Amino acid sequence: MSDKPVVLVTRKLPAAVEVRLQRDYAARLNASDQIYSSDQLLELAEGAAAIVPCHTEKLNADVIARLPQSIRALCSFSVGFDHIDLAAAKARGIVVTNTPEVLSDATAEIAMLLLLGAARRAYEGELQIRTESWADWSATYQLGVQVSGKRLGIIGMGRVGQIMARRARGFDMQIHYYNRSRLSADLELGAVYHDSVEALLPHCDFLSIHCPATPETRHLLNAERIAMLPDGAVVVNTARGAVVDDDALIAALRSGKLFAAGLDVFNDEPNIHPAYRGLQNTFLLPHIGSATVETRDAMGFRALDNLDAIMAGKEPRDRLV
Ligand code: DGY
Repeated sequence: MSDKPVVLVTRKLPAAVEVRLQRDYAARLNASDQIYSSDQLLELAEGAAAIVPCHTEKLNADVIARLPQSIRALCSFSVGFDHIDLAAAKARGIVVTNTPEVLSDATAEIAMLLLLGAARRAYEGELQIRTESWADWSATYQLGVQVSGKRLGIIGMGRVGQIMARRARGFDMQIHYYNRSRLSADLELGAVYHDSVEALLPHCDFLSIHCPATPETRHLLNAERIAMLPDGAVVVNTARGAVVDDDALIAALRSGKLFAAGLDVFNDEPNIHPAYRGLQNTFLLPHIGSATVETRDAMGFRALDNLDAIMAGKEPRDRLV
């Protein structure tokens, strides 16, 4: 029998990450990539020292309370940690880590893609080509809103928000932002700080959401706040679906209050609010913000660096609790 620590890996991870897992641990991999129910996860975790979950596993207080005593760590393959009840883990003395920094570039790329795609009606254009319904060129057809030189509001000026701002400056956009604390001038780079979301919203021709999902940010973008945006604004979300009130966003897209929305994250993924699919002015992606070869490898290695540190009795780089 191997004396390597047993590690439960809940989803299929990139090949290079699984090779390292198998080299250093008695890894319980998930070759079929099926999503485990809580009961399956608890059963598979029996005797394991740690779990490497993804955001698809809901490690709420009840599941954490039922984890085997052998579990010392939850090293998530994600930057987001809204799927893990940190207080419950802390109460059980279980260390929790995430994978910050390594996915910031990839996520900002997708935010920019969504911003451009929503503004320039990429979904409708694509559809016309693929369904052979493109009649001809016309001076008045398929008109979007121009991005260059417009105001971009960013909620959450952490790593991803800052990279998004940098990319948007390449389009001569003027950056406005709300963050819990104001950035130093060398990070702000001329961006205009607003001390509340309400103060930010009237300045956003485009709004990009980059804050984590917490009880405080749940449905942060609701009907009342959408009304504070300029008419014809474009909303982009690559953070978490929970930050947006779907009914309010859908109503604003239907009424024309908002020109369009670009969304990579949703409430209740993958069973998203069906109205999004029927709207022409949405540009939708299936939670692929961090989905590049380079980034998914880096996320896996970062999770394993944390795991290695914990198993060696050292402080992990990305400890949440
Ligand atoms: C993250 O890392 O939080 C991404 O959303 C993928 O889980």
